[in-house]
Amino acid sequence: MTAEVMAPSVAPDPVAPDSAAAGKVVVVHSAKGGVGTTTVAVNIAAAMHARGRRVCLVDLDLGCGDVAVALRLEPRNTILDVLADDTDEEVEEPIDILRTIVEPGFNCILAPAQSTDPAELPGDVLADLIPYLRSIYDAVVIDTPTSMSVHTRTAFELADVLVLVSTPDVSSLRGLTIGLDRSIALNAPRPVVVLNQVERGEGMPAEEIAAGLGVEIAVRIARDPMVARSGNRGEAMVKAEPNSPFTSDIDRLVDRWVARKKGTAKVRPLHRRKGFKL
Ligand SMILES: Nc1ncnc2c1ncn2[C@@H]1O[C@H](COP(=O)(O)OP(=O)(O)OP(=O)(O)O)[C@@H](O)[C@H]1O
Ligand SMILES: [Mg+2]
Repeated sequence: MTAEVMAPSVAPDPVAPDSAAAGKVVVVHSAKGGVGTTTVAVNIAAAMHARGRRVCLVDLDLGCGDVAVALRLEPRNTILDVLADDTDEEVEEPIDILRTIVEPGFNCILAPAQSTDPAELPGDVLADLIPYLRSIYDAVVIDTPTSMSVHTRTAFELADVLVLVSTPDVSSLRGLTIGLDRSIALNAPRPVVVLNQVERGEGMPAEEIAAGLGVEIAVRIARDPMVARSGNRGEAMVKAEPNSPFTSDIDRLVDRWVARKKGTAKVRPLHRRKGFKL
């Protein structure tokens, strides 16, 4: 099957769509490795899904994709299946050839289990696939490799939202400037810059360095040892640890694009509310 024959189809599963979020392509990137790009992408996708959106998380890191590991998924179907001319599988929807269902309304298109040369996936295939996904999901969240592969380039060009991730250290922040340069060169949307793995009480120096580099930080995400633990269990942090500072930070980021579900706003314990006496 090729991307061309994959006509838009009915909703892939029963989660009710919300037109306010329809078809947003959120691209998550860092020019420097190990800063938490995959972690942020997985948790943005999970947080959007928790707000009732039909989400597809796409792993474009063909060389070393980690989404399957982060969510403990078996990469039986992968993005490379978009190239298959025919398939023996009985599929109800064209997307079934590609997707892995995490739960209803939360699907992934995984990178191959074996490290693969990105050249095996022709660039024009992705240029067809992303608009197709946009037409059948409320949000398409794309985890990208550090390299400016043809696929990263296509993702930048088709992004509605570009999230650049950094950690609060000089070398990572310098990497951030590479990401910013890439976004300008490709005419991508103005990036939302996320500072990940921020220790509480730390940070003004990082803010100062960022300002010196001409970078404005939109959201800071807490460093939390539970991130690794939830990852080892194959769970997104926002689901495993809904009351953690990390989850609050991701929620603040996602608030920029998707409203919270009514009734899901966090309720502060009564005794901590100002003016409340028990
Ligand atoms: N906020 C955080 N607090 C604590 N640990 C974190 C946080 N964000 C990410 N990590 C940890 O940092 C490590 C790298 O995260 P991740 O794989 O998401 O980075 P990456 O930028 O995608 O890396 P790569 O370049 O290999 O693709 C993981 O062990 C992850 O658990
Ligand atoms: Mg990664």
